[in-house]
Amino acid sequence: MTESKKRVAILISGRGSNMTALIEAAKAPDYPAEIVGVFANKPDAGGLQTAAGQGIATAWRWHKDYPSRTGFALAGFMRILTPEFTDKWRGRMINIHPSLLPLHKGLHTHAQALADGVKEHGCTVHFVTPGMDEGPTILQARVPVLPGDTPETLAERVLVEEHRIYPEALALVARGEASFSG
Ligand code: GRF
Repeated sequence: MTESKKRVAILISGRGSNMTALIEAAKAPDYPAEIVGVFANKPDAGGLQTAAGQGIATAWRWHKDYPSRTGFALAGFMRILTPEFTDKWRGRMINIHPSLLPLHKGLHTHAQALADGVKEHGCTVHFVTPGMDEGPTILQARVPVLPGDTPETLAERVLVEEHRIYPEALALVARGEASFSG
């Protein structure tokens, strides 16, 4: 099956726990994708070391060294990407967002959910389009919001589901069972 595995690069900014979930899932012989590289937009992203420890090629570029977002995106950084970049990778680039999109886009999603008083929260894997956190959904998972939750306790509960659905969503895309040509 090795020849038909889709080659996947992961772009991270931090500890990379979702990256680790993908790396672990991709170790299964019948998983339809292989992780060939990990890229970060800053040198201290903890996930870089984790990936290197697994023998995966890593690289980083400090995004502050680049004056414009265009130069930054063309160098392959993971921040808000330019439309030129997202259009080039349309249907082949996916993202995980810690909310039930279209609710709670952007940052601090767990605090947003608590402030809104929702009873359910969760995470979404979606195709990337030029609009931030807007592309078509591939998979979502829900968790309850419990009395006494803080952004941290809620984040922990959501993260368990992130690690479950991200490998599933990548497999769907790699097998052509989820697609977006838009
Ligand atoms: C995750 O909650 C992800 O959904 C969000 O940022 C967090 C990254 O965590 N975009 P990790 O680096 O995967 O551990």
